[in-house]
Amino acid sequence: MSTKSNLYKSLLSDVGNIIDSSVPTFTNLGNIAALLKERGNWFWVGFYKVVGEELILNAFQGPPACVRIAKGKGVCGKSWQESKSFIVKDVSLFKGHIACNPHSKSEIVVPIFNKRKKIVYVLDIDHDKINAFNEEDEENLSLINKLILEII
Ligand code: SME
Repeated sequence: MSTKSNLYKSLLSDVGNIIDSSVPTFTNLGNIAALLKERGNWFWVGFYKVVGEELILNAFQGPPACVRIAKGKGVCGKSWQESKSFIVKDVSLFKGHIACNPHSKSEIVVPIFNKRKKIVYVLDIDHDKINAFNEEDEENLSLINKLILEII
């Protein structure tokens, strides 16, 4: 099995175990961000929450980041607007990319849909090397987001 598939196998099981439906969503998302960042060895892991016409920074792990992203702006805002994931192999080549930190070189954004199929958060992960993410990340992070659906 590849390193990535081992990583996601354990992450899927551990995210399922770490979720505690008796505490606030923010508490769970904070713990999930911490788990993902530690295991994935990623540069930044966080959730942006849909609030009106903006995404607002929610639970995250890593350096300070942009707090507001308008719909359609940056990778996160485009993911929300177009209701799909984005795998950005080189952030310098993505038109409109919002650089919260110069060390971010590649990025993946995967939307989180609620039970009514509406996007309520996006999960954003940054890497300090280019070309860090592929479809395997997208598929597995979508599965993690399905677990999160139970607590939002
Ligand atoms: N790069 C993102 C902004 C958020 S940070 O990466 C934490 C974007 O273009 O939407």
